[in-house]
Amino acid sequence: MLVTAASGGIGLALAQQLAERYPLRRLYLTTRDIDQHAALRALAAQHANCELLQVDLLSEADLARLAAAISAQDEQLGLVINAAGLLHRGERGPERRLQDLELDWMQQLFAVNALAPALLLKHLQPLLPRDQPFIIAMLSARVGSITDNRLGGWYSYRASKAALNQILRTAAIELRRHNRASIVIGLHPGTVATSLSAPFQSNVPTDKLFTPHYSASRLLKVLGQRKPADSGSVFDWAGELVPP
Ligand SMILES: NC(=O)c1ccc[n+]([C@@H]2O[C@H](COP(=O)([O-])OP(=O)(O)OC[C@H]3O[C@@H](n4cnc5c(N)ncnc54)[C@H](OP(=O)(O)O)[C@@H]3O)[C@@H](O)[C@H]2O)c1
Repeated sequence: MLVTAASGGIGLALAQQLAERYPLRRLYLTTRDIDQHAALRALAAQHANCELLQVDLLSEADLARLAAAISAQDEQLGLVINAAGLLHRGERGPERRLQDLELDWMQQLFAVNALAPALLLKHLQPLLPRDQPFIIAMLSARVGSITDNRLGGWYSYRASKAALNQILRTAAIELRRHNRASIVIGLHPGTVATSLSAPFQSNVPTDKLFTPHYSASRLLKVLGQRKPADSGSVFDWAGELVPP
């Protein structure tokens, strides 16, 4: 099992629950900077099945190192969850209007939200089993749905998640040719109280703002219910299909 960006609000909650539920299965956890994340280090120290790796998902050299580390254990991956994502950083956040668009920021959002997951799939492909089921889940977002876009705004985040969903669909088709039991899906975690959503939580009713623990437990339940026929689609925390 592998959780990338296991340092984030949702990533850490997923990692905690997987470490506890499957103590006999090895769990690889990645972050860009192990020194910065005490809670993740504590989790790995508590659970003998956890292995912490420093990986920048935007570095192909790091992704190759990650694949080599897993392959050195002679292991295939039955479960991969990518919990990385970017919405705001410093002064920069989601654009409300066309006049807010800046090439450099748009590129950063696309890189983290869409391109890194695609490269992760590229490097993990050789580790995926051919004769056993596996599931790959990427944290996406409902705002990536083109059909569901009624409010506008958040140009680059929306578009990068829509691109992620298209990459997932395309990879699902390719990977199904090699393994008919493969499942590649996107997940919408709900609105979750993490640093990513922090600047935007004031308009969210408290009963609609999930804790990372609650969201992670719902997402793991949704993963457990998936079938190969679901591959290529995006599901929300309640198991409902998010329209493309
Ligand atoms: N929170 C919500 O309400 C919500 C709603 C819808 C969708 N989502 C999606 O759920 C996923 C997890 O979000 P979260 O709420 O857990 O966010 P978070 O707490 O901010 O965690 C995101 C993680 O992404 C990782 N990351 C990797 N490369 C990055 C880069 N270049 N720049 C910035 N961060 C990078 C960071 O891990 P390292 O620094 O350790 O590498 C960070 O811990 C994201 O895909 C997000 O879009 C969240």
